[in-house]
Amino acid sequence: MNSRTQTGPAHKAPADSRVTLAHIMSEHDTNLYGTVHGGVVMKLVDDAAAAAAGRHSNGPAVTVSVDSMAFLRPVRAGQLLTVHAALDRAGRTSMGIAVRVTAEPWNTSGRVIDVATAHLTFVAIDSAGSPRAVPALRDGDPSADEAGRAAT
Ligand SMILES: CC(C)(COP(=O)(O)OP(=O)(O)OC[C@H]1O[C@@H](n2cnc3c(N)ncnc32)[C@H](O)[C@@H]1OP(=O)(O)O)[C@@H](O)C(=O)NCCC(=O)NCCS
Repeated sequence: MNSRTQTGPAHKAPADSRVTLAHIMSEHDTNLYGTVHGGVVMKLVDDAAAAAAGRHSNGPAVTVSVDSMAFLRPVRAGQLLTVHAALDRAGRTSMGIAVRVTAEPWNTSGRVIDVATAHLTFVAIDSAGSPRAVPALRDGDPSADEAGRAAT
């Protein structure tokens, strides 16, 4: 037990909650221009960030803000989209999640390209839906810098 949370450690490293989510894009994911709909990418970004927030906070966490979302290159059907999410900040009950999205051919070894970056804020909630305290993010962990770079 500790003073910040009822369960789990008082501090965690970004690596403890890092999530990688991969999904093959198909024609069902495309818009009228033939490229993947931005909302499809945003859903996967939110899913990966939610998993990272849940892992860090040892329980449910909800999206409170999409702080930034940048689409760098179009995504096409036939690409494997990979979403990398990691914590870069832990407040009292809120968590900042840096997300980087890459794409590559799904069935051949090809170049991996950056297609999107995002930053989201989640809040850990209890069974009544009220904010609950989360573990601190361990200082000086090099993976925190790595997570921060992912969203820039
Ligand atoms: C998340 C929620 C429980 C927070 O409730 P609240 O009454 O605003 O809580 P508080 O004012 O005590 O703020 C709690 C934390 O959230 C942060 N926060 C609140 N609104 C924020 C915003 N718009 N952007 C960034 N952080 C925000 C506060 O800074 C605080 O952080 P800290 O504890 O680390 O200092 C409430 O806003 C909510 O239920 N929102 C809907 C969430 C949702 O349905 N998401 C979509 C589906 S997952």
